[in-house]
Amino acid sequence: MEGQRESIHGQWSSRLAFILAATGSAVGLGNIWKFPYIAGENGGGAFVLVYLVCIAVIGIPIMMAEVMIGRRGRQSPINTMRTLAAEEQAGRAWVMLGWAGVLAGFLILSYYSVIAGWALAYVFRTGSGLFTGLTADGVQSIFTSMVSDPERLLAWHTIFITMTMVVVARGVSGGIEKAVKFLMPALFVLLFVLVGYAWNSGSFQQGLEFLFQPDFNKLSANGVLIAMGHAFFTLSLGMGAIMVYGSYLPATTSIAKVSIAVSLMDTLVALLAGMAIFPIVFANGLEPGAGPGLIFQTLPIAFGHMDYGAFFGMLFFVLLVFAAWSSAISLIEPAVAWLVENKGLTRVTAAVVAGLVTWLFGLMTVFSFNLWSEFKPLSGFEVFRDSTVFDLLDYLTANIMLPLGGLLIAVFASWKMSRASSLDELGMGDRFFYPLWRFLVRYITPIAVILVFLYALRDIEAIQYILNAIGIT
Ligand code: TRP
Repeated sequence: MEGQRESIHGQWSSRLAFILAATGSAVGLGNIWKFPYIAGENGGGAFVLVYLVCIAVIGIPIMMAEVMIGRRGRQSPINTMRTLAAEEQAGRAWVMLGWAGVLAGFLILSYYSVIAGWALAYVFRTGSGLFTGLTADGVQSIFTSMVSDPERLLAWHTIFITMTMVVVARGVSGGIEKAVKFLMPALFVLLFVLVGYAWNSGSFQQGLEFLFQPDFNKLSANGVLIAMGHAFFTLSLGMGAIMVYGSYLPATTSIAKVSIAVSLMDTLVALLAGMAIFPIVFANGLEPGAGPGLIFQTLPIAFGHMDYGAFFGMLFFVLLVFAAWSSAISLIEPAVAWLVENKGLTRVTAAVVAGLVTWLFGLMTVFSFNLWSEFKPLSGFEVFRDSTVFDLLDYLTANIMLPLGGLLIAVFASWKMSRASSLDELGMGDRFFYPLWRFLVRYITPIAVILVFLYALRDIEAIQYILNAIGIT
């Protein structure tokens, strides 16, 4: 290992610290809020299967590539790309990858924070016993009345952004490391409690069948793209978050092992969340495709009926907030690291600037659920017929920007970086695993991403006309 560069922002204190921070980034609303609702909207089993395949074939190799690039560059993604592109004699345009990542981070965090705000609100709602004994209808109307009030959403959004920026201002190793160490295990335990409840009182069998019995007739071409996009989203890939965390990684840690460990934990959390939620959905005659409110309309039913439900419910949402918090930090860290490196700001000022920008973008999501709820900007397209501004923002970032970013990361790591550099950085010997990784990121991953993009185009009407016209359908 050459280890010639050092990060000016510090380093993780150990390999475990990195695993915790990266898991903290990966495990978040994506696993517990988003995965169940998009699995529900896209028909269940087949969607889940495609998502799992994407994690294995695309996600893990790209995570390794991203961590590797980060550790080699040891700076914010923008400067890392600039440095490495020069070193590897690749074009100067590669720095754009860093910029695109910063933009994606702002956009994602802007809506992520609004949803995390819902979770914050639910800490108090569950804790106060508001849901005790309520039926599905009652629970649903509490959710609806919350999201239809822009002021309330704005207040919680503001609180969550402030929380995020406080941690970001204090730097990478201190706070994040310590918090995640306790919270992740606690979240696991609580998910098991919920799965246990679903086992006893939900339609467990039906829930499992929905999640794990693939029926490809229920999966649209667009659904395949959403499954792939979610593999990037849930692993925090494609925008530099994992790259910037990699830049704080000690030189001797095995990148392959940590990437696999993080991906496995992340996947396990998502599947547990699905196993907790769908039995409740079916037992109460709810719609699996209810959309972004799904967990807020299902889990409170469980908490309203189990012993000590107010306590467990509060604990669950507290943990969800922490999971979202440790993810949010990583979304903004690439931008903050760049502001510190290039603009000479302190971390505190950088965090304030980044926080204000994100907060402003967040207004779009806040309004999507109330004032703008009938505003469907792309309703002319069948696939986006019902999409609000929030839905489109999520689609653009998770299903387009992240896979594109990931594709470019794969290309850079395997075509632009020399074999010697990546072999040196990954440090896993020249025998089986390194060639396998290189083969995957050189060929399989880029081709898979491109194929899924092309395939999804089938669901865009304008393209269908063209395909029909030239006789390909
Ligand atoms: N992975 C997180 C989740 O599942 C969200 C997240 C954090 C993220 N950092 C990211 C998504 C970077 C995309 C890119 O909740």
